[in-house]
Amino acid sequence: MAKNVLITGGTKGIGKAVACCLAQAGYDLLLTYYADTPDEVLETETACKSFGVNVTSFQADISNKQSVTDVTQLVTEQSESFDAIIFNAGITYRESFENIDPAEWERMFFANVHFPVYLLQQIVGRIKPGGSVIFTGSLMGIEPHATSLSYGVTKATVHALTKNLVKFLTPYKIRVNAVAPGFVDTEWQKNKPAEIRQNIERKLALGRFCAPEELAGVYKMLIENACMNGEIIVVSGGYSYK
Ligand SMILES: NC(=O)c1ccc[n+]([C@@H]2O[C@H](COP(=O)([O-])OP(=O)(O)OC[C@H]3O[C@@H](n4cnc5c(N)ncnc54)[C@H](OP(=O)(O)O)[C@@H]3O)[C@@H](O)[C@H]2O)c1
Repeated sequence: MAKNVLITGGTKGIGKAVACCLAQAGYDLLLTYYADTPDEVLETETACKSFGVNVTSFQADISNKQSVTDVTQLVTEQSESFDAIIFNAGITYRESFENIDPAEWERMFFANVHFPVYLLQQIVGRIKPGGSVIFTGSLMGIEPHATSLSYGVTKATVHALTKNLVKFLTPYKIRVNAVAPGFVDTEWQKNKPAEIRQNIERKLALGRFCAPEELAGVYKMLIENACMNGEIIVVSGGYSYK
């Protein structure tokens, strides 16, 4: 029987690394992207398809209410049943506390919290018994940072959502876990000034940022290990241990 996984934000960064890791393990993939170019999407699809699996990508803006309906419709049309849904796409909003725009605050909550809840409501019945839901949380949802209030609060909410969903998903025989990455070398981090990166590296026992590929196997383990449920797995290289 075919194994299928849906990954939001699956064509870039952490999502792309997870997609490639799962493709190598024989999972067919449904990937969403937002602003990636056709060439970037094609590159991810080609890399995954080289392992002989089926890959379909489609555009969805997780900060837009309409995308809940659009993604539900697409998933329904594909008639897929899933081994896992990975809510990986996320957005941030860096603004001083005094200047936070309420519309942007609400957009953050919609993208990082409401979108996965509303989409899951629609497609939970398509997850196979024994399957699972995985969220990409963040170390910033555990260790508050000064860069984005809405990011830290929404990611902490994602962690709370993960734990609270366990009891609601148990009747479906579905597990739910989160990965909380620390500092991962994706576009998300690459524009940080060298001084800030060095400050972060000084706090990491590992002494460097993680590569997206180093996180991918954690997602695969969460899909395949039936004992993992309600866990927030921090993958940071040992933040604050130095
Ligand atoms: N990198 C880190 O250090 C780090 C640490 C902790 C948590 N995270 C989390 O990891 C997840 C992936 O981030 P990343 O590091 O892999 O960064 P990334 O390479 O910039 O990827 C971000 C992903 O989110 C998608 N996305 C952004 N805005 C979107 C929107 N409005 N609608 C739909 N999709 C959207 C992007 O799609 P397009 O490329 O098509 O726009 C992309 O696939 C995020 O949830 C982030 O919060 C990252």
